This record gives sequence, structure tokens and C-alpha cells, in this order.
Amino acid sequence: MFSFVKLYSALVLLATIGYVQALSSTLQQLTNFGTNPTNVGMFYYRPTQLATPPPLIVAMHYCSGTAQAYFQGTSLAQLADQHGFIVLYPNAPTAGGCWDVHSTGTLTHNGGGDSLGIVSAVRWAITNWGVDASNVFATGTSSGAMMTNVLMGAYPDVFKAGSLYSGVPYACFQGADAWNSQCSTGQLILTPQQWGDRVRSGYPGYTGPRPKVQFWHGTVDTTLYPQNFWEEIKQWTNVFGVSQTPTSNLTNNPLPGYSRASFGDNVQGILAQGVGHTVPERETDTLDWFGLSNLQPGQGLPSAPTSAPTGAPTTAPPTTAPPTTAPPSTPPPTSAPPTSTPPPSNGVAEHWAQCGGTGYTGPTVCASPFTCTAVSPPYYYQCL
Ligand SMILES: *[C@@H]1O[C@H](CO)[C@@H](O)[C@H](O)[C@H]1NC(C)=O
Repeated sequence: MFSFVKLYSALVLLATIGYVQALSSTLQQLTNFGTNPTNVGMFYYRPTQLATPPPLIVAMHYCSGTAQAYFQGTSLAQLADQHGFIVLYPNAPTAGGCWDVHSTGTLTHNGGGDSLGIVSAVRWAITNWGVDASNVFATGTSSGAMMTNVLMGAYPDVFKAGSLYSGVPYACFQGADAWNSQCSTGQLILTPQQWGDRVRSGYPGYTGPRPKVQFWHGTVDTTLYPQNFWEEIKQWTNVFGVSQTPTSNLTNNPLPGYSRASFGDNVQGILAQGVGHTVPERETDTLDWFGLSNLQPGQGLPSAPTSAPTGAPTTAPPTTAPPTTAPPSTPPPTSAPPTSTPPPSNGVAEHWAQCGGTGYTGPTVCASPFTCTAVSPPYYYQCL
């Protein structure tokens, strides 16, 4: 009886603290990984138990963030333990901690810039860790979301899919300056053809398959205005040659107030009603988009036909997951920031929420223990 009580208490305790479950490994630094013209810093999380072969996710931080902050602020490392993939956490080399998403070099295939440093680490991981070259992915928040689009455009041969939170279209910031207010405020309006041409110019002559792209955006984002969501729809539907009219649009998905619009199998835009900058990363949703939700250490991904580079909505083949695969439904432990919804009425901005900047009118005090940090002054301040 007594031992039963003790066991029960232990189980309750376990269930309660499950999300702080220890990782199997630690964040490590990678050096000497190849061509790195801007000196991008590189860190990685490599679980002790890997899938065979392991996929790779590149996870990129917001302005003023670091590899360490993104490692701690997202649940990707816990999910890496659970699914057996490796995570690369690049660290922006500039003082402000933003990624170069504007220079011709970074926007061009093998043209230099931050993007080439990141891709060099991916290539190094493929060669030295046996990473599955056909299952390399990118995700990021804000500046990291912009960089995800840069990688999708300039390195379509390297990445299979991207999932980006509160960014701008590929090459929206192109030009001499690191910050582009016309783009950030949603006043850079181009035709689908023009946006698509920008992507195609990232790797001239490339005719192979393109990574499928999922983008998230909040409707009250005053840092990277929500018009960027609609410009991203134009861009990626043009690249894939599909209609700008959604093939489906699921409301209250995956959260109340969010809507998930699909444009065939390769483009998906999730609009988060009432959410500002940034939409909190939903790692398990991103893993679904990457096709990694059923993967387990010691197993490989079922080989699937590569997605067609253009057009016609194709029905996904029935997934023939091996019988030993865990059901995808269980929400894994997550250290993700609390999700979304409008600023709390007590006037305190939560972790990751905006707390200042041009045009911003919401709460300027951050919930403890976070501080209002100048991320991209004078445009944007965030609780970090
Ligand atoms: C999807 O539906 C929601 C709710 O009606 C709407 O706000 C959103 O604009 C739609 N998305 C697209 C891409 O049309």
C-alpha cells in the first residue's frame, strides 16, 4: 500500500516534470566545416540515438538571438531525441544578430554570404555524419524565417522543405541595406511572376525539384506586416505553378483563430488571427510538414516519390509506416513558448511577444523573467 502511494506520487511527479526531461546529448560547437565567408557560427544537437540515416534540420534564430537561445527556446532538441534527427543551430555573425537576407551573395546559389556558410555546414554533416542528403530541412523565426526563405530560394537542391515563422518572401530585403522598411511594412507589392522570378534568379538554370514551403504569420504583426504573408503566397504558388486560391483552408487549425490554407501539396500558409510578431514556433506541426513525425531512432524514413516540382495537386500516397512506428498523435514534451493569442489584458507581454517599436501600441512590460530587448531598433523590440 505504502509503496503503491510512493509509486503513484512518482508517476504524478514524472508526468508533471516530463517536459524538463534530460536530453540525451548537449549543444556542441562545429568548426572548420568548409567555406564560410562571413564567419557564421555553427552549433549542433546530435542525439545519442539516430535514425538510419538521420535527417537534418537547420534551425535559425531571430534578430539578437543566438544558436544557444534557439536551442533552449524551442523543443527541437527534445524532438531530435524522440525522432533521431540532427539539428544545426547557426549563429549570426553580425553584432545585431540578424541574418544577411539582403546581399546578392547570400541570395545567390554558392554566391557567398551567410547562406553559403550555413549550407557548407549542411554539406559537412552529409559527408561526415552520414546525414540523409534527401532529407534536409530549414526552419526559423523572424530573421531566421527570412533566412529560411533565402535557403529555399538559393539552395533548392539542398533542402527538401522549409517551415518559417513570421518572415518575408525570398529576396524581399534584397538591396544594399540590411533592413528594408518598404518590405517590412508590407509595401513591397509584386506580381506572382515577379516574386517567382526572384526565386528563380537565386539559382539560375536550376530545373530540379523545389523544397515545399510552409509559412506562418500573425495578422497583427507590426514588425513584418501581414501583407508579407500574402506576398509569400504569390511567390511560392508561382514557383510551383499552382493557383493562389487555396485547395483547402482549415479554420481554427491548429489553434483557435489560426487558419491553415493549402495550395496543393507544396505550399501552405498559416494565418494566425490576433497574433503579433512572432508566431510561436509549433515544432510538432513543423515536423509533420517535414514528414518526420513517425520517424524513430534506429529506423529510416519510408522512401516516397519526390514531390513534383510543379502543379497538379497530387494525392499523397498512403503512408506505409512500419508497424513499429509510434502513433503520431501524442504531443511530445515541449519547451515551446506559450502559444499566441492577443496580448493579455494585464498589459504584460509574454515571452517572444513584441514589446515596442515603430507603430506598436501593445504592452511594453515583459512577463518575468523576460526583458524587452531591442531586436531591430527602432522597428522592433521583443520579450527575450
Ligand atoms: C482562410 O480562412 C480564414 C478564415 O476565414 C481567412 O481569414 C484567411 O484569409 C483564409 N486564408 C487564405 C489564404 O485565404
